[in-house]
Amino acid sequence: MEVIIQPTHEDAVGFCARMLARRIREKPDIVLGLATGRTMEPLYTQLVTMHQNEGLDFSRVTTFNLDEYIGLPPEHEQSYRYYMNHHLFNHVNINQANTHLPNGMAEDIAAECVDYEKRIVEVGGIDLQLLGIGEDGHIGFNEPISSLRSRTRNKTLTKETIAQNSPFFSEPSLMPVQALTVGVGTIMEARYCLMLATGEDKAQIIAQAIEGPITAMVTASALQLHPHCAVIVDEAAAARLKMHDYYLWAFETKPDWEKLD
Ligand code: GLP
Repeated sequence: MEVIIQPTHEDAVGFCARMLARRIREKPDIVLGLATGRTMEPLYTQLVTMHQNEGLDFSRVTTFNLDEYIGLPPEHEQSYRYYMNHHLFNHVNINQANTHLPNGMAEDIAAECVDYEKRIVEVGGIDLQLLGIGEDGHIGFNEPISSLRSRTRNKTLTKETIAQNSPFFSEPSLMPVQALTVGVGTIMEARYCLMLATGEDKAQIIAQAIEGPITAMVTASALQLHPHCAVIVDEAAAARLKMHDYYLWAFETKPDWEKLD
């Protein structure tokens, strides 16, 4: 695992955007795994700007999102389909047919989960998986005690996650308590994982995920087993890392961090 500490929130987001843009340019038909949440909003804004100003080309890109609420139609403002259209897809030249999210309105949820995994396999797997982290350590919606080998399935959200995300809803009680999420096992099969976390609210869980024991209680800790994973944090989110100075020193000594290897 590579830990990249950037001074500010803006620097961390900018660094992540440049890493992504570089990979899209190197492999125009890349398959991206995408994430939602507050952390990703400025990142997608930067990608849109790169598309508008630098011609960053999404025309051959395929995307698979990590998760979706069960029971919210795509036009619902808090659905993750709406989020992705609003923050990224509507503003770049991506082919909407190549953008995938689990269907939280599916009549047969189990069949939808099997089909989602199948679609990922059919395109050759995910090249680069973008990840945020929940305050309870979840990646996607893989809440504590999710199997570290789990596949796409429905998950009951924790009260902590509901508290974190319900303020987005006009009435907090309208937030679904169930979601579809790709599994930790699905995420671990991506060829490269890139996590972005910013702000002091993430400092404790980032320290647990990166330097704590690998445990299903913090599903992000499974990334310690991933052979190609980088975590980009700002100083606020890095505040509790024991090896903080080592990460900075390693950053100074490596010639090309924006390259993914
Ligand atoms: C949401 C998403 C996660 C995301 C996390 C962080 O619940 N399901 O994929 O990583 O929460 O959200 P935020 O960036 O708002 O802190």
